[in-house]
Amino acid sequence: MVFDKKHLLGIEPLSQDDILSILDLADQYVTLNRRANKHADALAGMTQINMFFENSTRTQASFELAGKRLGADVMNMSMQTSSIKKGETLIDTALTINAMQPDLLVVRHPSSGAVNLLAEKVNCSVINAGDGSHEHPTQALLDALTIRRAKGRLHRLSIAICGDIAHSRVARSNIMLLGKMENRIRLIGPKTLMPAGIRDFGVEVFGDMRQGLKDVDVVMMLRLQKERMDGGFIPSEREFYHRYGLDLEKLGHASPDAIVMHPGPMNRGVEIDGTLADDINRSVIQEQVEMGVAVRMAVMDLLVRGLRAPTRAEVTA
Ligand code: NCD
Repeated sequence: MVFDKKHLLGIEPLSQDDILSILDLADQYVTLNRRANKHADALAGMTQINMFFENSTRTQASFELAGKRLGADVMNMSMQTSSIKKGETLIDTALTINAMQPDLLVVRHPSSGAVNLLAEKVNCSVINAGDGSHEHPTQALLDALTIRRAKGRLHRLSIAICGDIAHSRVARSNIMLLGKMENRIRLIGPKTLMPAGIRDFGVEVFGDMRQGLKDVDVVMMLRLQKERMDGGFIPSEREFYHRYGLDLEKLGHASPDAIVMHPGPMNRGVEIDGTLADDINRSVIQEQVEMGVAVRMAVMDLLVRGLRAPTRAEVTA
């Protein structure tokens, strides 16, 4: 397995082989994570620092568990209470952390591009855990693993991504990944939540849920990102739910065995009906969370494998 990247900053630079290498290794970690003893040693002795400049529940917990299961010393820095508040710049923070000799930095930041900037200033591997509305590569990878396990393949599927596309790093990373794997992608949402020039990504765009969902294999819902909106994007949440909220009736237009996904956190009754989200016959939302830990273990394992000098046994093998 060849994986020669130092950082995972986005899906954009990954090849089909890179993506498949990550997913294949993640499948092995799913098996490990279902055992009582979940310990592996790919990061034994290493230091992983999670720096979250934006609130997160599942992503931060997932990276923390992933690092601990691989044997790393994991530190969570709460950036809300850090020196950033006292006016320290992102670069100063990066240099301070760098001096502590971490092996892996996991970074979430509200500004698009901030994680790339930080990666230029440190010596260790950096993983983007979401930067503004730019990329969230591990989310797209865990979504891909969930789809592959549910559908038995990751190509030639018809996949609808619905709702607040414009503000969503999850949508951007998924559009890139699913496009690289040769799937048909449909984006569904109001014009105000559709990014300009999105058709250049080889997607079909729909303003109507029932038309857009027709016969799709996968329905991926997105959270309405109210914190990134400054008003005027939707008339009201009620109206949005009426037109774009996923319920059983609208799902009826998709393929009968279509799966329902959501990255979380969900606004129940805004982008998705709560009962449908909990229906284990249609929804794979809990699987997505499970796959998240395994995918993050695989990514961290592959990144440090590439960096570590080979042992003598490995060289002579
Ligand atoms: C997503 C994120 O933070 O980008 N959530 C997540 O990582 N689980 C999506 C969202 O916040 O809507």
